[in-house]
Amino acid sequence: MSDVNSITEQFTAYLADNEGADPFPIFARMREDAPALWVEPLQAWVLTRWDDITNMLEDGESFGPLMNQPGTSSIFGRAILQMSGDEHRRKDAIIAKRLRSPRQLGSTIEEIVSGLVQEYGQRLPVAPEAADLRTGLTEPVPLGAIAELMDMGEASNFRNWYNDIVAAGTSNVTRDPVVHARGEAARDELYAFVTPSIEERRTCPGDELLSDLCSMEYEGERLSDDEVRSFTAFLLSAGIETTDRALANLVKHLILQPEQWERLRADPELVSSAVTEILRYRPAVHVTIRMAKHDLAVDGTSIPAGSKVMSFVSSANHDPSRFDNPDEFDVGRFQGQERPNYTPIGPVRAFGGGPHTCTGSLLAKLEMERTLEYLLERFDHFEFAGDVPPDTGIVLRSPVTLDVVLHPAA
Ligand code: HEM
Repeated sequence: MSDVNSITEQFTAYLADNEGADPFPIFARMREDAPALWVEPLQAWVLTRWDDITNMLEDGESFGPLMNQPGTSSIFGRAILQMSGDEHRRKDAIIAKRLRSPRQLGSTIEEIVSGLVQEYGQRLPVAPEAADLRTGLTEPVPLGAIAELMDMGEASNFRNWYNDIVAAGTSNVTRDPVVHARGEAARDELYAFVTPSIEERRTCPGDELLSDLCSMEYEGERLSDDEVRSFTAFLLSAGIETTDRALANLVKHLILQPEQWERLRADPELVSSAVTEILRYRPAVHVTIRMAKHDLAVDGTSIPAGSKVMSFVSSANHDPSRFDNPDEFDVGRFQGQERPNYTPIGPVRAFGGGPHTCTGSLLAKLEMERTLEYLLERFDHFEFAGDVPPDTGIVLRSPVTLDVVLHPAA
């Protein structure tokens, strides 16, 4: 069998049964021998090299947004990821004004995040009892942060809307109709909650993100009512499960590699580097998706106009052309060089790249750093309550549950 056939077979087997499988050796083969591979079950071209992926993310002339396909945000229509050019730049600036503001991040947002980490951290059961860290800590911290930032803390159904909308989004790669219908119902409830207050927030804005979406203008551009609703649903999906899974990956690998945990305990200055490193080593988001706008060639492979192109940013993060010893988890790797990786400039592709680089990356950084600091302060060590939880998911990937026994520091 040719190399490409055997790679295709191996990758397709991973797609069919990804739980607990290790995709990184497959990505290495793909980078080497099939860097632009047609994958039938995905109906997409799959890119795995850092250079090609970075180019895809940066080159808006050749690659554009993809709408209404499995694995995209078809559930809530056109939001920021589906926009391009000046429209994208202006509307992204409306979200970024708050989420990337040093003043906000250093005061209000810092207070919200630190408060949530303390609140949920203190409720965690300790040894000999097991704690479910995902439902107990890694999910409620980003969930609470978005709810507060959007002034939706009072919406009692917020968590259910979030769960159903997320399940029907990128995770629903097979487009399960029941999951899709549940997502649409949750989206409708969310919209019914948001709609009555849009007009009021337009004329009398509060000091929170939903009011920004309703009231802010950037270079004369303002969001329509439909866009306010779509952006709200998008932020629910983009801002919670991503950070939740990123934190789950961090804890999992600090348990699997206790010498890295000990390094952090001995030198808490490494917290920021450790967070950046887990985002490189085991990113929560594995894939970004675009459409080829015209016929093009990647590494000598022709990709026709209109094709779906899936870039495995997780593979880019392990490309040896960019990272030394890419398959090693080294919490000190980025010390003093963390910050560019939360912008389009840095080499880590966990937050994408180019104009659509994650607007919430600094919020995610803050949430992850505060959570790790809390764990380091409070616990001597932790261990899995049972077997090592397997990673699950193709687009978003992490353990689904994280039952651990927490041993408090003396
Ligand atoms: C560790 C956590 C996170 C990860 C790994 C992550 C990852 C990503 C990635 C890969 C993209 C680019 C998608 C693409 O180009 O197709 C993206 C975009 C985006 N993310 Fe995040 N994200 C995280 C947290 C957040 C948070 C907390 C928020 C906001 C509350 C957020 C808001 C956004 C927005 C608004 C975009 C669209 C940016 C644009 O189109 O210009 N993300 N994120």
